[in-house]
Amino acid sequence: SCTVARNAEGAATVGGIDVRRLAAEFGTPAYVLDEEDFRARARAWRDAFGAGADVYYAGKAFLSKAIVRWLHEEALNLDVCSVGELAVALAAGMPPERIALHGNNKSADELEHAVKTGVGHIVVDSYEEIERLAAIAARHGVRQQVLIRVTVGVEAHTHEFIATAHEDQKFGLSLNGGAAAEAVRRVLGHDSLELRGIHSHIGSQIFDMAGFEVAARRVVGLLAGIRDEHGVELPEIDLGGGLGIAYTSEDDPREPAEIAAALAEIVRRECAAANLNAPRLSVEPGRAIVGPTAFTLYEVGTVKPLEGLRTYVSVDGGMSDNIRTALYDAEYSVALVSRTSEAAPMLVRVVGKHCESGDIVVRDAFLPSDLAPGDLIAVPATGAYCRSMASNYNHALRPPVLAVRDGAARVIVRRETEEDLLRLDIG
Ligand code: LLP
Repeated sequence: SCTVARNAEGAATVGGIDVRRLAAEFGTPAYVLDEEDFRARARAWRDAFGAGADVYYAGKAFLSKAIVRWLHEEALNLDVCSVGELAVALAAGMPPERIALHGNNKSADELEHAVKTGVGHIVVDSYEEIERLAAIAARHGVRQQVLIRVTVGVEAHTHEFIATAHEDQKFGLSLNGGAAAEAVRRVLGHDSLELRGIHSHIGSQIFDMAGFEVAARRVVGLLAGIRDEHGVELPEIDLGGGLGIAYTSEDDPREPAEIAAALAEIVRRECAAANLNAPRLSVEPGRAIVGPTAFTLYEVGTVKPLEGLRTYVSVDGGMSDNIRTALYDAEYSVALVSRTSEAAPMLVRVVGKHCESGDIVVRDAFLPSDLAPGDLIAVPATGAYCRSMASNYNHALRPPVLAVRDGAARVIVRRETEEDLLRLDIG
């Protein structure tokens, strides 16, 4: 999954920069993000879906002001799921009408903030929220555009999807039992709300389009039901995010163009069957855009061989900068990047410096057996859900995000300091 460019001295380069220089200048651990790669992936999604669809980048994967500016320049929209993400989006100048707000329990304050800000779409997730939002919009004299998030009864995880198994979760209004239809009635009953369409998100790190197919069929079925009951054809559907990326060489992700063509065809077919005009399609990729664009650069601190088992390689970060291995049993690869080595490979586990044995970054991998303290190693594909889920566990200082481009590196999110930690601790 990770093809590392090397310079004449055998050190890996990214954006034309020697990783040893990055480590020397900015310290480790650090997330190193390739700006051109990010822009190219954003553009690929944008181009694949074309003018007849909207691509909302899912900010939860990783958001910063630079990211927002790049998205703006590449003509993508933005999905935020909290007022914190909204604040970053607005601070970086994303036009509010190109932002969609998500969340299963948005407070009255958050909804009011979004309405006053002029956020384009609010994706409603419960009856309470519909009533709350309707009252707030009315009070501000706004006709707020909303989508209703529905639960289509599809669970999609990695390679399989299990129809109907996904009813037992907190998101959305179920198509079964009429909750979604009732939400539609409620939204349509409020003059301060404009129902634009239906939203579905079936899961994350998905490779199989079959789950999207079922979701699209059921969403279109609801649109047909709405037309029959209320005489309105809703103009939009949003099929969410969730497209998988390659974490290891075993994963084989699809290209945006292929995904866009498949989704457009599914929607077209289902609408034709239901005798509906095809609505405008939105998607919300997060991981698929940012995931592959960054790696985490660590320095090796200790190399501890456990006879007959494996060698534990401790780095200067850990579960505080990548919780995904501990949380989801996620798989990553790792490479020695500060030099090349002809030494035989040894089985390693890359671990962090936190106070628990579950503090694992890469569970099983091979690194050269002459690995030594001071070597730099890189874990690829950490652009999504690593910095955004980073923590201060053990009062770790969260690493910076460096953006590299054309032989230059700059800090887009700086490393935390002890002062940052102490600032919140007011005694
Ligand atoms: N839209 C909605 C409504 C979502 O809930 C999500 C992700 C996305 C879009 C973006 O999904 P993506 O394209 O990035 O898969 N922390 C987990 C992933 C949680 C995803 C939550 N929702 C992880 O590290 O794998």
